[in-house]
Amino acid sequence: MKRRRQIYEGKAKVLFEGPEPGTVIQYFKDDATAFNNKKKGVITGKGVLNNRISEYLMTRLGEVGVPTHFIRRLNMREQLVREVEIVPIEVVVRNVAAGSLSKRFGIPEGTPLPRAVIEYYYKNDELDDPMCSEEHITAFGWATVGEIDEIVSLTIRVNDFLCGLFLGIGIRLVDFKLEFGRLYHDNGDIQLVLADEISPDNCRLWDIATNEKMDKDRFRRDMGKVEEAYQEVARRLGILPES
Ligand code: C5P
Repeated sequence: MKRRRQIYEGKAKVLFEGPEPGTVIQYFKDDATAFNNKKKGVITGKGVLNNRISEYLMTRLGEVGVPTHFIRRLNMREQLVREVEIVPIEVVVRNVAAGSLSKRFGIPEGTPLPRAVIEYYYKNDELDDPMCSEEHITAFGWATVGEIDEIVSLTIRVNDFLCGLFLGIGIRLVDFKLEFGRLYHDNGDIQLVLADEISPDNCRLWDIATNEKMDKDRFRRDMGKVEEAYQEVARRLGILPES
C-alpha cells in the first residue's frame, strides 16, 4: 500500500493526505487527554466509536442543510473529509451549567440555562485556550465579522437539531464544542463548514432519567466505565459498530 503523508497529529486524531486533492483522512485514536494534556490515558475502542458517532451526527446535520467537511467513512477508524483551513476558535454551546462555566461563575452543575450560551476560546495550547470575545476574534484577525455571524447562526442550528436528536434517545445535550473551517472552492468562493468531530469527547451528554454522564467527563473525573458510556451513546443512536 502506498505510504500516506501525515499532515498533523493531534491529541485524539491524526490527519493524513487524502486520495484526491482537497481531501484529508481523519484517523481516530484511542488516546484521551484532558485539562490541556495534563491528564493522559487510553480509552480502548474510543476511536472506533467516535468515528462512527461523528459520521452519524455530521451526516444528519448535512441532511438538514448544515455544511460540514465530512465526505464518507472509510473504515473502522478513518473518515474522508474535505481539506479546510481551521478557524482558530473553539465554539462552546451550553444548554445546562456544567464544567468550566459552573466553576467560573459558581453556578451548580445541572442548572438549566434560560437560553443557550455561546462562548469562544482561542485555540492555543501554550496559552491554555483562553476564553475570548467576538471583539478579540475580529481585532486579532482570527475571523471576520461576517464569519462570526455565520458561525453563530450555524451553531444555533446545530444546537437546536442536536438537542432534539439526543432528546429522542433519552439524552440531554448539556454542552458541546464545535470547530469551523474555511473551504476554498475552485471558483474562489470561501465557505464556512463544520469541521473536526462531534462525539462524546467534545459533548456533555447526560441520561435524561438518571443524569448519568455518558461522555468524556467519566475520564476527566475518573468515574470509570468510559468506553461503556460511549458505547451506550452509539447503541442508542442505532450505530453500534460491528464487533
Ligand atoms: O470544560 P468546559 O466546561 O469549558 O467544556 C465545555 C464543553 O466543550 C464540553 O462539552 C467539553 O467536552 C468541550 N470542550 C472540548 N474541547 C476543549 C474544551 C472543551 O471539546 N478544548
